[in-house]
Amino acid sequence: MRRYSRISGTGSYLPPRRLTNADMVGLLAERGIETSDDWIVDRTGIRARHYADDGVNASDLGLQASLKAIEAAGCQIGDIDLIIVATSTPDMVFPSTASILQRKLTESAQALGQPGAAGGAAFDVQAVCSGFIYALTIADAMIQTGAATRALVVGAEVFSRILDFNDRTTCVLFGDGAGAVVLEAVEHDGSGPAVLASDIHADGRHTGILCVPGTVSGGQVLGDPLLKMDGQAVFKLAVGLLESAAKAALAKAGKTEADVDWLVPHQANLRIIQSTARKLKLSMDKVIVTVDQHGNTSAASIPLALDEGVRSGRIQPGQTAMLEGVGGGFTWGAVLLRL
Ligand code: ACO
Repeated sequence: MRRYSRISGTGSYLPPRRLTNADMVGLLAERGIETSDDWIVDRTGIRARHYADDGVNASDLGLQASLKAIEAAGCQIGDIDLIIVATSTPDMVFPSTASILQRKLTESAQALGQPGAAGGAAFDVQAVCSGFIYALTIADAMIQTGAATRALVVGAEVFSRILDFNDRTTCVLFGDGAGAVVLEAVEHDGSGPAVLASDIHADGRHTGILCVPGTVSGGQVLGDPLLKMDGQAVFKLAVGLLESAAKAALAKAGKTEADVDWLVPHQANLRIIQSTARKLKLSMDKVIVTVDQHGNTSAASIPLALDEGVRSGRIQPGQTAMLEGVGGGFTWGAVLLRL
């Protein structure tokens, strides 16, 4: 018998404003820029994305996803002793989006006459599209060591705020949203639900191929605060790195591709997802795909897809899922878990 962490509940939230590719064609046409549904679907598989309204921040999307995950876990807000938010679009420079989320959760609890979440640890993780994989790995380690008992791990993004709508190669790709899981301590012999293994990496030599290079200094934004990407360089790196992280996680857990019931990949691009599935010898009916309806929601995409898989009844208790992500930094990683 030993202590593991397990996912006891999932939740997700998309802001209601939905933009189809036809809407993007209209939006870009106003700027004299051409795009088409055919180009976007053919190159990316994306058909729609959601944008948060002005004044709605990552913590607001994260709050809705978190409340659903907590309800699904059958626990209360006051049971949460660790909050990690993965985001590259935080509400502010500081405090962390996790601290703001903790306050909003506490307000929600108080409205129900329940204890809040104040006092537990709360911090953000910045690993761009790999952020949720990093956050889950950290939360799992903290639970295994006894530093936490019940964690809320959230990916929440408002990427619409950092898009350059004069750059058609990037602005059609991304959307806003949030996903969350409750990760809690459990004791068993290794055959029960658990995070089985994880594998995370970074290679800072590639910071330039996907970045928002601006910064705040002296009360001004210095540099360009909008997303820049060398799409082909990202594509070439992403497929190989996702394969290596997934295989490393399988090896650490003493498993093979044949043990994977579901691949829950970062939803950047359907072609990257298909290439990765092929390399892991998994047919597409074992892959959760949401990129067509969500676009790329960066750190939110994996927990959004996981929640979609769980709530649609496809991912069942006892099954094994491979979560994997890659993103700016360059960062990448995978988490293998049994639900
Ligand atoms: N609509 C119409 N035409 C477009 C658009 C658009 N939205 N965007 C680019 N084009 C044109 C280009 O101008 C170019 O035209 P040209 O040949 O006349 O110069 C042509 O399409 C091809 O452009 P490329 O950039 O070479 O297109 P590519 O086939 O590489 O596809 C894409 C671009 C989809 C970004 C691809 O490189 C890709 O999938 N990269 C992976 C990156 C990714 O998914 N990143 C997500 C974020 S990173 C992450 O989450 C890991």
